[in-house]
Amino acid sequence: MSIDLAVIGGSGLYNFPGLENARRQSVDTPFGPASGDVVTGDFAGKRLAFLARHGESHSLPPHRVNYRANLWALHQLGARRVVGVNAVGGIRDDMGPRVIVVPDQIIDYTHGRFTSFCDVEGAEVKHIDFSEPYTASLRRDLLAAAARAGVPAIDGGCYGATQGPRLETRAEIARMKRDGCDLVGMTGMPEAALARELELEYACLALVANFAAGCGDEEEISIEEIFAHLAAATAEVPKILGAMLAG
Ligand code: HPA
Repeated sequence: MSIDLAVIGGSGLYNFPGLENARRQSVDTPFGPASGDVVTGDFAGKRLAFLARHGESHSLPPHRVNYRANLWALHQLGARRVVGVNAVGGIRDDMGPRVIVVPDQIIDYTHGRFTSFCDVEGAEVKHIDFSEPYTASLRRDLLAAAARAGVPAIDGGCYGATQGPRLETRAEIARMKRDGCDLVGMTGMPEAALARELELEYACLALVANFAAGCGDEEEISIEEIFAHLAAATAEVPKILGAMLAG
């Protein structure tokens, strides 16, 4: 059965609320195991596949996520449109806790991750165009759906992908701001590039959990606060995706 939308859940989103007739599948990939089973079910009258990026018990840190296996598994099951839900820190003033952003650009500061399906011996070398790292039509659909659902969402912003799992220093964030980053997160890459290699449509729903280091009033970033803000923003995700699928 075809899949209308695949969702990769980030921190705070370990199963998809409201998914009916759910069925779990473990998918073998040439790149090893995905973060967990893909759970497929009915949502808003359509077929949705869900995968928890960090595992359902959040056991995988950002640099240990098998991004290749995750994208491969979703593709293998027939997904062609993928929304990555990512917890982020806000760098831009209007991107404070609980704000939802649909970014349009990426700067990649990660290292030591498998960034391409061409790493495999004998694989065809592909130089994908990545000028626009997210699929424009899917971004538009997400933003239109958010508007229909009455959920405020900011159109555009540059996602800076850091290695984690630690948060950044103030100097690192100041540099990222100078570079043009509006948001900082640990999981946006290489996911977006791998999706493009597989010719999947891909866009990001970035949920701001905190102001990034040095951007808010706080001396320190509290993990408890991050998760409280994330829980609030995460509750809006099914509203947006439901409106998108129903529309
Ligand atoms: N930095 C990096 N990743 C994050 C942050 C942050 O401040 N908040 C949530 N994910």
